[in-house]
Amino acid sequence: MTETVTEPGKRSKKSPLSEVNFDDSAPLLDVENLKVEFHTRDGIARAVNNVSFTLCEGETLGIIGESGCGKSVTAQAIMGILDTPPARVAGGQVRYRGVDLIQLDEKTRRHIRANKIAIIFQDALSSLNPVFTVGWQLGELFRQHSGASRAQAKSKAVELLELVGIPARQIASTTSRTSSPAACASG
Ligand SMILES: Nc1ncnc2c1ncn2[C@@H]1O[C@H](COP(=O)(O)OP(=O)(O)OP(=O)(O)O)[C@@H](O)[C@H]1O
Ligand SMILES: [Mg+2]
Repeated sequence: MTETVTEPGKRSKKSPLSEVNFDDSAPLLDVENLKVEFHTRDGIARAVNNVSFTLCEGETLGIIGESGCGKSVTAQAIMGILDTPPARVAGGQVRYRGVDLIQLDEKTRRHIRANKIAIIFQDALSSLNPVFTVGWQLGELFRQHSGASRAQAKSKAVELLELVGIPARQIASTTSRTSSPAACASG
C-alpha cells in the first residue's frame, strides 16, 4: 500500500514510509545490543548497555528495574527522541518489522512515530500544556502528522474524546485553542 500525506491546499506528496521495506513477517520490535551514552562534562555516562529483547505482534512486554537503570532512555532511543547531544546511540539495532530505525533519517523516523510506534510518557500529567486545551493538543497530532486542517483536527479530537466518554457538553470548551479556568480544571 502506498501511503501519502496530504496537506490542504497543497499537492499530495509521497510519505517517506513508502520507501521503507517493512517485512510483515519480522517481529514487531527487535532490539539488539542497544547502547546509549550521555556525554557530560564529568565524562561519559553509559546509561544503556547491550539491551536486547524481541516483541512480536500481540505480545506485551513489561520492563522492570530500579530507578535510573535505563528504562526510559531505552524507550526514548526506540522512539528516536533522545536529545543528541548529550545522548548518543553508541551501538546496537532497533528493528521495527525488520528495518533498523537507527539508520533512518529524521524525516522518516518522524513518520514512523506518527504512524507506527507511539509512546505514553511516564509523567503524562506534565506532558500536557495547561495553557492549551486537551482537545487542541489532541488535534495537534493530526495537524502536525496528517496535515489535517483545523476543522478536521477538531473533529478528530472530538471523536477521540467521545471514545473515552467525555460528555458532549464539555467538548466545545475542550477543543478551543486556549483553556478557560473551567476547561483547565476538566483537563
Ligand atoms: N541528559 C542526561 N545526562 C546524563 N545522564 C542522563 C541523562 N538523562 C538520563 N541520564 C541517565 O541515564 C540513566 C537512565 O535513566 P532513565 O531515565 O532511563 O532511568 P529509568 O530506568 O527510566 O528510571 P525511573 O524508574 O526512575 O524512571 C540514569 O542513570 C540517568 O541519570
Ligand atoms: Mg523512567
